[in-house]
Amino acid sequence: MRKKKRPTVIDMFCGCGGLSRGFLDAGYDVLLGIDNNKSALKTFKENHDGAIAMDGDLFQGSTILEMAHLTDNKSIDLIIGGPPCQGFSLTGKRDENDERNTLFQSMVNAVGFFQPKAFVLENVPGLATLYNGKAKENIIKEFSNLGYTINSKVLYAPDYGIPQIRKRLFIVGLNNGMNFDFPEPVCIPGNYISCEEAIGDLHDFNDDLGVDVCKYLNDPKTPYQKKMRKNSIHLFNHVGTKHTPEVIDVISQVPEGGNHKDLPPGVGESRKFNEAWTRYHSKSPSKTIDTGHRNHFHYKFNRVPTVRENARLQSFADDFRFFGNKTEQYKQVGNAVPPLLGYHLGIQLKKYLSIDGE
Ligand SMILES: C[S@@+](CC[C@H](N)C(=O)[O-])C[C@H]1O[C@@H](n2cnc3c(N)ncnc32)[C@H](O)[C@@H]1O
Repeated sequence: MRKKKRPTVIDMFCGCGGLSRGFLDAGYDVLLGIDNNKSALKTFKENHDGAIAMDGDLFQGSTILEMAHLTDNKSIDLIIGGPPCQGFSLTGKRDENDERNTLFQSMVNAVGFFQPKAFVLENVPGLATLYNGKAKENIIKEFSNLGYTINSKVLYAPDYGIPQIRKRLFIVGLNNGMNFDFPEPVCIPGNYISCEEAIGDLHDFNDDLGVDVCKYLNDPKTPYQKKMRKNSIHLFNHVGTKHTPEVIDVISQVPEGGNHKDLPPGVGESRKFNEAWTRYHSKSPSKTIDTGHRNHFHYKFNRVPTVRENARLQSFADDFRFFGNKTEQYKQVGNAVPPLLGYHLGIQLKKYLSIDGE
């Protein structure tokens, strides 16, 4: 039987590659990821089935030619990427002195150069209303000028089986004149995956803070835990953090689902702001995973979640290993698009891509 050709993908601003790992799992051929962060690139390289991890600065126009060279000038079916949102301003190409646009523009230039069948631009939901919606209008205009039909939507991660409250804006362009219908939710409110269902099998630490590779001490209990552990024998990146007795005492006074507002007067005063001293609730999806600010705590244990626990809540399977020091690992996880969100988008997008050889 003739083997189906997998759609080829370039991931721009790939980070550790949460978004592109989802596309890989959905049957895409991720050829290359580009970023300027070395530890994120190492993680990307180790988890993307031989994809090229290109260390490049997307402020430089010449990187596009190098991307083409490194992928042997193969035809590219899809370009995905999440440019940093500081990279958007209103002046567009017209103001050459406004450097902020360069990063977003690098994605427009890559789409113009490679002419993929589709592109997916991911960002924070706030991008939709930035400058009263003019930033988004500008993005749509730039890609429409290249001949793409554009559709956009804010997706809510728990709707797609991810145990975390996280919203992301996706702008999808197709070059065949069709409108993209976003994937339907697979979970409904009341049925969302909770923190306990997601990480309840991962052990705590006593004096032993754990090492980067350890054994599972508990059996998986829920379908989500079983799915996450499917390809893993050992547990990576489950390393504890040693808090001072004072900090542990404050954390222990925060109830499940509570935050600094639940602390008695005089307790934890040094850090009383919006997201501070927030404890996850075992029966709900977690708060939005951050890049390691140490403001969120395990629903049961009096400590911050480990990199692995955060990765689980972001829907990274346990065989996705993170590299770099612990601070870098937390940052990679917090910056990522949940792979499961990428997966559902990838499955849906395949319906719109007619790939030669199919
Ligand atoms: C939000 S993160 C991307 C996360 C990624 N999409 C994922 O799902 O894992 C944005 C990335 O842009 C990268 N970046 C920022 N400025 C850059 C530049 N000038 N050139 C290349 N990459 C850059 C950062 O290093 C960071 O990894």
